[in-house]
Amino acid sequence: MGKGTVVLAFSGGLDTSICIPLVRERYGFDRVVTVAVDVGQREEEIAEATKKGKQLADVHYTIDAREKFVNGHLFPAIRANGSYEGYPMGTALARPLIAGEVVRVAMQEGATTVAHGCTGKGNDQLRFDFIFRIAGLDVVSPIRELNLTREWEIDYAREHGIPVPVRKEKPWSIDENLWSRSIEGGRLEDPAYHPPEEIYAWTVSPEKAPAEPEIVKIGFLKGVPVRLNGKDLSGLELITSLNDLAGKHGIGRSDMVEDRILGIKAREIYEHPAATVILAAHADLEQLTLTRQELSFKRMVDDRWSELAYMGLVHEPLFHDLDAFIIKSQEKVTGTVDLKLYKGCCRVLGRSSPESIYLGDLASFDSTTMDQTHAIGVSAYYGIQARIIEQRRRN
Ligand code: ARG
Repeated sequence: MGKGTVVLAFSGGLDTSICIPLVRERYGFDRVVTVAVDVGQREEEIAEATKKGKQLADVHYTIDAREKFVNGHLFPAIRANGSYEGYPMGTALARPLIAGEVVRVAMQEGATTVAHGCTGKGNDQLRFDFIFRIAGLDVVSPIRELNLTREWEIDYAREHGIPVPVRKEKPWSIDENLWSRSIEGGRLEDPAYHPPEEIYAWTVSPEKAPAEPEIVKIGFLKGVPVRLNGKDLSGLELITSLNDLAGKHGIGRSDMVEDRILGIKAREIYEHPAATVILAAHADLEQLTLTRQELSFKRMVDDRWSELAYMGLVHEPLFHDLDAFIIKSQEKVTGTVDLKLYKGCCRVLGRSSPESIYLGDLASFDSTTMDQTHAIGVSAYYGIQARIIEQRRRN
């Protein structure tokens, strides 16, 4: 008697492909169910995963989770100005969703074990395991548990008739979703190595971007983008079109030496055109509509939210608490931001909001709304404690 059914998170790549024969041969499962989750990867990649899953597994599911990804994961990240060490995180946002879909299939299939193809070096193993284990499932992770090397994997794949990507052509490891594309591995592992232009797929090089700037208008409702250039769009449509628009202008590249959860520093390159523009616009609109107190407190909340999101700890109670604060804080974050896209840069040109707490009359050099003499009394006591100390030092 074998061990029954195992449900495998499946991308169609080498690691997850060889997991199919491995869980049969090395772990003794009788039935392998593969699940590919569409979070906005290239269409060919999803098609490839579907084809391979159907060929190699006993049962295969391809699940279109793009709407869910946008509404349930990207919108919260926008409200939270979600970024990690300075770049808009993407992979981290998709993993809990992918894992959640695998859990759903496991329940449906009556499986108590799930599998993933993560190595023991990255963040994704921890993000996946957390979701699987909190659902009460057992986890097998052949690549990590059998301590496999790339060479061994390639030989094993060949023996099992699994097509192996040609190494010369694609020496990079790529992870893609609607929000960002990440490129790592190969020569990029040397942090001093200058990335070749060919690794980029969503953005043109700023030098090759159009000589004419382009202006985009993004409308927000309670902290999330709902309108592009005057047209109401679903989040999915808006992000997809903005990725094209901003990518064409060379916007949204990051080259990072990033601290992974385990403490390993890793060289990672990202493309995130829509994310760059939307996050810039969102932060600008918050600046117009939130009080100074709200802004400074929210920066701390956003940082903690982002750290937990990066770690994949999305069921940590604190994460829910922070999220509740963030949602409440966004009630006033409604309005429009105009931005100029030009040669790798996006700059805010103007912003407006019915919730604006900017009072032109107060700040203006020309107005007489504010009696300037009132400031004299404030100034007389301004910094009084420091002044007392300095006075004493001088005497
Ligand atoms: N370092 C990033 C993260 O942990 C992205 C890793 C994506 N994986 C890849 N094979 N490119 O969120």
